[in-house]
Amino acid sequence: MVQDRALTDPMGRWRICIGTSPIDEVILRHLMLPDRRPQIIATEQVIRPHVRRTPVVQISGRELGLQGTSLTLKLELLQHAGAFKTRGAFSNLLQRPVPPAGVVAASGGNHGVAVAYAASSLGIPAKIFLPSVSSPAKIERIRGYGVDLVIGGESYADALAASEEWTRRSEAMPIHAFDQEETILGQGTLGLELESQAPDLETLLVAVGGGGLLSGVASWYGRRVRLVAVEPEGAPTLRRALDAGRPVDAPVGSIAVDSLAPRRIGERNFPILRDTVSEVVLVTDEEIRAGQRRLWDLLRVVAEPGGTAAFAALLAGKVRTRPGERVGVVLSGGNTTAVDFGR
Ligand SMILES: Cc1ncc(COP(=O)(O)O)c(C=O)c1O
Repeated sequence: MVQDRALTDPMGRWRICIGTSPIDEVILRHLMLPDRRPQIIATEQVIRPHVRRTPVVQISGRELGLQGTSLTLKLELLQHAGAFKTRGAFSNLLQRPVPPAGVVAASGGNHGVAVAYAASSLGIPAKIFLPSVSSPAKIERIRGYGVDLVIGGESYADALAASEEWTRRSEAMPIHAFDQEETILGQGTLGLELESQAPDLETLLVAVGGGGLLSGVASWYGRRVRLVAVEPEGAPTLRRALDAGRPVDAPVGSIAVDSLAPRRIGERNFPILRDTVSEVVLVTDEEIRAGQRRLWDLLRVVAEPGGTAAFAALLAGKVRTRPGERVGVVLSGGNTTAVDFGR
């Protein structure tokens, strides 16, 4: 016998009866998605004094050989500390009770840079764990903020294990790079901000590592835009999770290993992405490098590999667009050493 389920949303706005057919399951999933938009708005107000409203630049798709497409690039690499991660870092530090022992974070690089920046600017002690693959640009920035830094292990997963071990012995509060509600809300403020700058986007391309950035942005937009997730071929965390129906281990590689290769997508992030992402596109290292070069040639913008992946997917023709389509691309980070000012 098919049994109807009566559902009331957590905020008491509606009550609905749902059956058990496949279509009912899809509806159920969408109704159960917690609406984080009010919390993203509240988070934006809390972190606003501490984060930059990063600019957007509009370019014609013709400049990239994409006929008729209108492109909006969100220059989030101009954010404090060089990446969107600063939003999530302040969201955690300002919305959770921080103990006197301070905070601890594991990171491929940019989350560590952001937590170090945010903690030092608020006078909070911080200890950051990075793997040896982190780029020198990120290591240098963290050192510059004067927090404790431990470099060890080969991957983000190693740094995470070391940080968890240390957390067990200390009173410090861990700040997860993606699998933490306040991190998702903080990254979601990028979506809110972008919509205010470019209200009519139809498609939005965002790079994925653990899924914090895109699950935040997706929590803001929902299905109001076509969300395209972009991952390196060498680190397909979301693709593997979608294939398996749950977060599973993926290879840890690619030129963007210090930003887009955390081994698996976050438990909290996965259901949001499963229910909102329209497609996942994989890019090669060569395509990412070509994207970095093109951003430099076109705009004199220096983006790091992870910060370029979404743009690279478009440039490589891997995202289907129609003439006139309004496409947004997040350039999510710029912490790289790929600049030689000597000449
Ligand atoms: C520059 C850059 N872009 C994108 C990402 C992916 O973010 P997430 O792990 O939240 O998916 C990262 C993560 O470190 C990053 O540093």
